[in-house]
Amino acid sequence: MYKKKIISIKSYVLRCGKNITLLHKYIIKKKFNKFKLNINKYINFKQLFGFKKIVIDIGFGMGDSLINQAINNPNIIYIGIEVYLPGIIRIINILNKNNIKNVKIIIGDAVLILKKFFNNSIDNIQIFFPDPWPKIKHNKRRIIFLSGFIINIIRCLKKEGILHIVTDNKNYALKIINFLENTKLYYIKKKNISRPITKYEQISKKLGNKIWEMIFYKYIY
Ligand SMILES: C[S@@+](CC[C@H](N)C(=O)[O-])C[C@H]1O[C@@H](n2cnc3c(N)ncnc32)[C@H](O)[C@@H]1O
Repeated sequence: MYKKKIISIKSYVLRCGKNITLLHKYIIKKKFNKFKLNINKYINFKQLFGFKKIVIDIGFGMGDSLINQAINNPNIIYIGIEVYLPGIIRIINILNKNNIKNVKIIIGDAVLILKKFFNNSIDNIQIFFPDPWPKIKHNKRRIIFLSGFIINIIRCLKKEGILHIVTDNKNYALKIINFLENTKLYYIKKKNISRPITKYEQISKKLGNKIWEMIFYKYIY
């Protein structure tokens, strides 16, 4: 019988393959274990880390902002999720070299990984400069709008947990604010937020782009 193939839209394109070297494979095999979170089953952060604050960084890129935050806040557990291999290799090397213990890394698609997190278990989810997909025909790849993504964010954030999104794309920013308007995420306009600058942001600022900093609180009546 004819079966229709379902192709799910992804927020990223993987261009690795030929760029994976033996060194990459070695680093992942030998140095990744202590930073790895097993996602074969549901992840219960309370069981793993007790009452420590949990911050998720979706799409950490080259990892500078994540590392910086982790060093400055040793009592917070940071979970980085990324698909971009050069960034993953880089962060594993830095974590090893500096013996940083409060960062865990999950390699893979955040849209799928979020489904594995317990309800009401995360304090803060940060998505700094999600791929803007600026061409109209590619807008459907924007991670925030992918099927089930925001529903899972709301589900796994704690009460009064924070979703922190930053973008340099005005169209994306306005659409996000509009998209989240009738959800449990309440938009707070904040201008001066202290956080380390990201790699993407450095480039964007040099180009003179405006940065949209958006904080949403999860509220429960
Ligand atoms: C524009 S870059 C920004 C990187 C970093 N946050 C920064 O500001 O420098 C977006 C990152 O999100 C990652 N990404 C895109 N979709 C993802 C997904 N579904 N799961 C995990 N990471 C994803 C990409 O690989 C890329 O590294």
